[in-house]
Amino acid sequence: MDSSIILFFSLALVIILYISIITRLSRGWCSCTICQSYVDSRWRSRFTNLCDWYTHLLQSSPSQTVHIHVINNVITANPVNVEYILQTRFHNFPKGKPFSSLLADFLGRGIFNADGDTWRFQRKMAGLELARASLRAYALEVVDREIHRRLIPVMDSVSRERGVLDLQDVFRRFSFDCICRFSFGVDPACLELSLPLSDFAASFDVASRLSAERAMAVSPLVWRAKRWLDVGSERQLRRAVADIDALAKEVIRQRRRFGFSGRRDLLSRFMESVSDETYLRDIIVNFLLAGRDTVGSALTSFFWLAARHPEVGAAILEEADRVIGVGNTKITGYEEMRGLHYLRAAVHESMRMYPPVQFDSKFCLEDDVLPNGSPVKKGTRVTYHPYAMGRIEEIWGPDWADFKPERWLRDKLFCQENPYKYPVFQGGVRVCLGKEMALLEVESVALTLLREYRVELIDYCPVPVFSPGLTATYRDGLPVLVHRR
Ligand code: HEM
Repeated sequence: MDSSIILFFSLALVIILYISIITRLSRGWCSCTICQSYVDSRWRSRFTNLCDWYTHLLQSSPSQTVHIHVINNVITANPVNVEYILQTRFHNFPKGKPFSSLLADFLGRGIFNADGDTWRFQRKMAGLELARASLRAYALEVVDREIHRRLIPVMDSVSRERGVLDLQDVFRRFSFDCICRFSFGVDPACLELSLPLSDFAASFDVASRLSAERAMAVSPLVWRAKRWLDVGSERQLRRAVADIDALAKEVIRQRRRFGFSGRRDLLSRFMESVSDETYLRDIIVNFLLAGRDTVGSALTSFFWLAARHPEVGAAILEEADRVIGVGNTKITGYEEMRGLHYLRAAVHESMRMYPPVQFDSKFCLEDDVLPNGSPVKKGTRVTYHPYAMGRIEEIWGPDWADFKPERWLRDKLFCQENPYKYPVFQGGVRVCLGKEMALLEVESVALTLLREYRVELIDYCPVPVFSPGLTATYRDGLPVLVHRR
């Protein structure tokens, strides 16, 4: 590009940035201590992660609700408010345009990014498909195969060579392979022994990271201007989305050419009732996003906690030996996994302390009042915060800081918690559709690895440091040593 054009565009960007900062400051200026701490990042002097600062604020609030005026965001950890937002007044708290426009290039009109009729249609179809015995059996087959053909060989190889392994990276590869096969019927083979670089996985990473980073721009005007000019991160995002589109559309065309009626993946199921190529692409990309990083994150935190609490691992193994037999690592079904009550309790307990989706936001359509009395003006962002909710004494008791699977057991049987106290899979009208598959993946991997290996943490930091993003990600990965039992 000609240097005068670049200069012109850069000047235009600086002016847009300047105007947007002035507009934002004049609109949302507030001198309360919380807003000041937010604006000048003073919270960083006491807290490692933003979610830890929010937790502190919510623990200190008598109604477990705070309003950060400068970003017009009401944040709550109060279960009664959460039920009100996710169920009782669901229609007044949609995802909203501000959120969906951030993710529109990447997720299109897919279920994660849609409201109203578009969302309702996909929800109904996906719900029906996921409940079918054939799809559930397919998920089981995909997970079992990935564990035995990929995960175990990688772990064996690292344990033999006594090398350091980033478990977070391994779990992300594992869950990407699984969700791609399940949704698309395509195997990206990310967890092959050589831990190859997959262009598709890399484009997917770039697209989700840069879409999430749009939310951090001083004003939407900034990323919109960069998008219009096709420069910087927006150019990278456009290219990553183009790669994803190309692969998705190629798979759809091939499927149409060679037939899909005998295939068991989700795309083939959807193709029986949807013909629009872009819409099919959106549906699938949304499932990939929903099922990839969440499962990887749940597994990473589980092993971070399990390595510090060997007594929990021992209790899981004792139960598995008693219920499914000594040394058996072949998963035969959902029912069998459901019989492992202590394992299920430990997995739920680790997600209480480290939920893969730490917070989730909606937008208020019309002025409202939350049950705790907090007024919410139209256009306000309203966030419920599962990470903080796992740390509220009124919900979990004075021992909330302890990793204690027993809190989920009554007479040694696993008992589900109220979803508004534990909205790790959201709750209410838009509750996660993949919960069963997620539990199958996390529990199967947890059991297999605990049985076959001893995982030793290398880095003993007291709290994980998270990177900003849609799903909880350990900034420095989870480096471990692996020992065969
Ligand atoms: C431990 C793993 C998982 C966790 C913690 C989790 C959590 C969540 C949460 C919090 C939401 C609400 C997000 C929002 O509305 O912004 C959600 C939605 C969703 N999840 Fe999951 N999820 C997990 C795994 C999965 C898997 C494996 C799949 C696919 C098989 C899946 C499919 C979905 C779908 C389709 C939605 C959208 C539902 C709707 O909007 O109606 N999830 N999940």
